[in-house]
Amino acid sequence: MRTIQDEFSQNAQNYTRYNIIQSKVIDQLMALVEDSPASVLDIGCGSGGVYEAIAWEMDRFVGVDFAEGMLALHPEGEEIQLEVLDFNDPLGFERFAGEQFDRIFSASALQWASDLDRTLAQIATLEAPVSLAIFTSGTFETLHQTAGIPPLLRSREVVLRLASRYFEAEMTTLRYTLAFSSVREMFRYIKRSGVGGARGILSVGQMKELMRRYPLSYLEYEIVLIHEPQRRADDFS
Ligand SMILES: C[S@@+](CC[C@H](N)C(=O)[O-])C[C@H]1O[C@@H](n2cnc3c(N)ncnc32)[C@H](O)[C@@H]1O
Repeated sequence: MRTIQDEFSQNAQNYTRYNIIQSKVIDQLMALVEDSPASVLDIGCGSGGVYEAIAWEMDRFVGVDFAEGMLALHPEGEEIQLEVLDFNDPLGFERFAGEQFDRIFSASALQWASDLDRTLAQIATLEAPVSLAIFTSGTFETLHQTAGIPPLLRSREVVLRLASRYFEAEMTTLRYTLAFSSVREMFRYIKRSGVGGARGILSVGQMKELMRRYPLSYLEYEIVLIHEPQRRADDFS
């Protein structure tokens, strides 16, 4: 069975051409950052969208991702450390215990957490302010309704509730539509942008039927931004 890891690795070369929404998300996330953190952890760093959007000098940038095909495309440099890490591994973040990061980013990745509650709890133990962008079930909402399948991702409400357990954050919801000249183009885009999520639950026939019945000329996206301006000193006690 194709996993999400396979899907991202195999589509890595395409990612930078099919990441229109993810690029917008990074821009919005970065616009919230008022500090210039010298030491950064980027979870689900992929091919380097967050690194490339950082305009300030850093001493250390640690990018982690479980898809080696994506990491292979990430910029390299003296201050950059890239590591294979699966954020679904309950012990995955232990390697960073005791390390000091000035900010933790994660853009367009944590929607794939199998247990978001546990992953957010692990991130919180690193005691750095966070800037996270997480896709929600408003993404491809009409497509899922048309196909008669439940949403792939968690609802906005669930993501906000889980995030508020661990972070004193400003929460913002972004909504985008992405228009296409044909339904065929639209479905090709879904496949190549890596947001299909290895779902594979529709047969070829069902897929064709879905393409015939999809009522919109655009795709819908919904993303929650979770941004902590600073962690309060007493959060560390
Ligand atoms: C849509 S891309 C976003 C990449 C980058 N952050 C950006 O905004 O351009 C999602 C990334 O999350 C990674 N990812 C998905 N599930 C993961 C997991 N369980 N552990 C680590 N990385 C994961 C994928 O390999 C992929 O590189």
